[in-house]
Amino acid sequence: MKLFDSHCHLDDERFNEDREELIKKLKEDGVYKLVTAGYSLQGSRNAVELSKKYDFIYATIGISPNDVPDTQEELNRQIEELKVLYKNYKKIVAVGEIGLDYHWNTDNKDIQKMAFIKQIELANELNLPIQIHTREAIMDTIEILKNNKVNKYGIFHCCPFNRELVKEGIKLGFYISFAGPTTFKNAKNAPEIINLVPEDRFLVETDSPYLAPEPHRGTRNDPRNVKYIIEKIAEVKGKSFEEIQNLACENAKRIFNIE
Ligand code: NI
Repeated sequence: MKLFDSHCHLDDERFNEDREELIKKLKEDGVYKLVTAGYSLQGSRNAVELSKKYDFIYATIGISPNDVPDTQEELNRQIEELKVLYKNYKKIVAVGEIGLDYHWNTDNKDIQKMAFIKQIELANELNLPIQIHTREAIMDTIEILKNNKVNKYGIFHCCPFNRELVKEGIKLGFYISFAGPTTFKNAKNAPEIINLVPEDRFLVETDSPYLAPEPHRGTRNDPRNVKYIIEKIAEVKGKSFEEIQNLACENAKRIFNIE
């Protein structure tokens, strides 16, 4: 197997007890490469540390909409710190996860939008793609992407099953990443969404430790489970596991600029 998990959180505390062992096992069990995602300043530092320690681990750096600070000054300070983190270090493959999330908080929409736009600028300055988190904020997300060009494009991580978002995202040049919910029994329109995405524009991810796919739903997720998402896509598209696995791998290497 040659699995490429394009988004997970290996620094999560749910891995504290057995992180080293698990990472060793991942490689043995066919995880070829993975991207561990930043979501806050500390989360970004953790991701970078992991990518320094293991050759097959890459990192993203960014402040997620659920981690934006209350003030603009603090936001600017954190973004400056992200730049310091990036300096002369080549295993940071995207700015993310960044975006908008109105599920948990609708009182801070202005600073969420500001953080999103400023980090698109950061991505352009660092010549990186972005990894987008969007939840219950589809129209605003699309509007910001239309008005703020991302030179290296990026990825909609854990793609919501929304036809408009996927169509617009593709039109704007972005990749769509499928996660555990693709396999859930109630994801009735998953096949329709999967078929909307061209073969050179999809990725697969676990978002572990969250969102374990079927048949492991409800347990601690880990990057090996990306195989269930590949299986689902293969089934929907009527292709072999190997074919989908290889496409996902090539697509991830292209967008993240990995050899
Ligand atoms: Ni995530």
